[in-house]
This record gives sequence, C-alpha cells and structure tokens, in this order.
Amino acid sequence: MRVVSTTAADRRWRLLSLIADGAVHSGADIARHLHVSRTAVWQQVHALQALGLEIDAARGSGYRLAGGIDLLDAAGIQSMLSAEARSAVRGLSLYFETDSTNQRLVELARVDDAHAQVCLAEIQTAGRGRRGRRWLGSVGRDVALSLAWRFNAALETLAGLSLAVGVAVHRALSGLGADDGLMLKWPNDVLYRQQKLAGVLVEVHGEMGGPCLAVIGIGLNIDLPAFVRAEVQQPVTDLKSAVRAVPTRNAIVAVLLGKLVAVLREFEVHGFGALRGEWARLDAAYHREVDVHLPSGAAHGIAMGVTTDGALRLDVGGTERRLHSGEVSLRFSS
Ligand code: BTN
Repeated sequence: MRVVSTTAADRRWRLLSLIADGAVHSGADIARHLHVSRTAVWQQVHALQALGLEIDAARGSGYRLAGGIDLLDAAGIQSMLSAEARSAVRGLSLYFETDSTNQRLVELARVDDAHAQVCLAEIQTAGRGRRGRRWLGSVGRDVALSLAWRFNAALETLAGLSLAVGVAVHRALSGLGADDGLMLKWPNDVLYRQQKLAGVLVEVHGEMGGPCLAVIGIGLNIDLPAFVRAEVQQPVTDLKSAVRAVPTRNAIVAVLLGKLVAVLREFEVHGFGALRGEWARLDAAYHREVDVHLPSGAAHGIAMGVTTDGALRLDVGGTERRLHSGEVSLRFSS
C-alpha cells in the first residue's frame, strides 16, 4: 500500500486528519503536531475552506470542522477487502489531491505494469467524465476510484466492459442497502430514482489483437454538498438518499472493489453475455422513448435493451439501430 502526497497537499491532509473528529482543536496544538507555525495553520485552514470544508475558525478558540469528516484510509480499506479482491489487488495508491485517478493509472501504465493497481483520491482537480465532461466531487463526500485491469484479449472483446462495471457497482450498492430504486442507464450510469448516483469511465489502451489495459474509473456520490449539485448539469443524487445508514467510505470502497474484481473475473471468462440478463433487469430505459446523443448528431427511438457486446438496440420507426459507441449518452425524452 502506498499513500501518495505532494508537500502542500500533504500538509492540508495532515491538518484535516487532525480535525476530522469534528472537535475543537487549538491552533497551538495543531501547530505543534504538524511542526508548523500558527500562521501556517491559519493558511492551511483557509486552503481547506476553499475546498468547501466548513471549518469554524474563531481567533483564540481554535478550529472545528463542523460535523467532522470521513476520510479514506488505505489500511482500513485493505482490512475490509474480500479474500478474492485482496489477492487480486496488487497495490493501492491514495492521494489527497490529484488531477484524475484514471490519469494516474494511465501514466503508471506507461512506465510499469499497472495491472490490478487501484488509485483513489480525496479530491480530483480534473476528474474526467464521459464525452469530455468534468466529474465533480468534494472532499470526504464522494468516492473517486480507479482500477487498472489487463485483459489478454482483443480490444473488440472489451466492448461490453463498461456495462459489466455498471453491474458491479449496482451489486455493491445493493449490498450496501440501496433499495430497488437503483437502476442502470446505458451505457453505464447508475441511477437512483432516475437521478444519477454514480458514473463509470472506462479507458482502454492496447493493441487491437491484445493484450489491453482497461483503466476503470468509478465516481460515486455519497453526500453531495449543495455547491456541487448546483454545478452539475443533470439531476443527481447521492448514496445518503438511497440507504438508511451510510457506511464508512472505506467500507464502500472495499465493497466496490470486491464486486468489481468478481465481475472482471466473470467478464474475462464469459464476456458481457453472462451479465446481460442481470443488466437487462436493471435497464432504466427498456421500452421507453429515448433521445440518444451521438457525436454525429442525435437519434430518437424506443430503447430495446442491449446486445451481448453491450450495444444499445434502438428501434427507430420500426428499424433497429445498434449503437456501440461509449460516447453515446441517453436522455429520457419524457
Ligand atoms: C461519467 O461521466 O459518468 C463518468 C464519471 C467517472 C468519474 C470517475 S471518478 C474516478 C475516475 N477518475 C476520473 O477522472 N474519472 C473517473
């Protein structure tokens, strides 16, 4: 396990860890623990406030993080992994702040074997969504997780991979207690009561004939603050709205990784075909009128489910179109 930090981010991380309990901590105590001046503490507190953290800072009375915060911890995650995930995962890097956890693994793969490496971050400064969109989150209130996985198979066999990952996320969230309002929207959005709860971005690199490395990124909203909701352009929700009691983020990550590894093993052997039935039962758009936005324009029709290679079957005026591209998004038209 590796905890990765840059110096400035590291100081903010250590300060945040100190005040994570939500209790009042005096500036002098914090300064002593962190071996910095009280002015430096004050500056770091400002930097954390700029990230949206509600830290009360009254001169003379110390600092208090309202409500505390549930920070990730690599050892804690590892201790909760399923036996299958523990033996599969070869390394876990936890950043306080990085551009994108997917990008970290893409770069790792350029210089090393990235297979089965996990990357997590408390904050992504350039979190990537599909179709060039940004993925927004906030410290302690979401999960930004990436896993790199090598497939000794041709690129074309990975067509249904992102849908398979959607099934894994669904299994994980159901296991954490989310009720049956949880559905999947092609290609791989996880919805709760028709609002987006999680997104998946799979970036595949490799030779046409294989092997290929898939960097699988999952973004899960846990307790979305109002300032993030206001910036997102679509209806969004969070795990807090879908479960009675939100587990710790370490537990959520461990369950996600467990289900993900199990699905990847299944996918390696049988492809998406073996998971298609499960996906179909969760299909939020099945037999509904939809608009599909393609890079080349838009299509309108009735969603008819997906093929064994993960393509969307769209009935356009009685003619079936099969939409394969991962860049396609789907909107409910009613
Ligand atoms: C989507 O647009 O729905 C996909 C969102 C995927 C976001 C995750 S967060 C972890 C990983 N790192 C990234 O930069 N993106 C993915």
